[in-house]
Amino acid sequence: MKITIGSDHGAVQLKEEVKMVLKEYGDIEVTDVGTFGTESVDYPDIAEKICADVVSGKADRGIALCGTGIGISIACNKVKGIRCALCNDVYSAKMSRQHNNANVLAMGGRVVGFGPAGEIVRAWVEGEFEGGRHERRVNKIMAIEQK
Ligand code: RB5
Repeated sequence: MKITIGSDHGAVQLKEEVKMVLKEYGDIEVTDVGTFGTESVDYPDIAEKICADVVSGKADRGIALCGTGIGISIACNKVKGIRCALCNDVYSAKMSRQHNNANVLAMGGRVVGFGPAGEIVRAWVEGEFEGGRHERRVNKIMAIEQK
């Protein structure tokens, strides 16, 4: 699986922790689109980079981080083809894959600790879309983009 990850200055450390969790799988190719320092940056710019990789197929999925996870998830969900789920708990992460086929995971670096974040990432990476009635609903979400 290919995953593009990015964060603003509010989650740079969390980004490194998440990359370590992804590295444990051994078969996940990670692209890091920054930011790489503590200097203030604008999360919509990072969101656009992550989502460009996902919608172009360069990445299968994306992970988007900012201080709360709120701003970057809102920005990601403005991009056609993106279903970004802000998950600061394991259950939501699991359901975002099973029911919503979320292709981008968002978390808040000032909200979740590194331990819980690792569990959230594992649940999301390993979660599989159930399809069926959920596919119908996801299709309806995607149809809204066309209106
Ligand atoms: C940046 O200070 C902060 O606003 C951002 O990381 C995020 O929390 C926005 O939703």
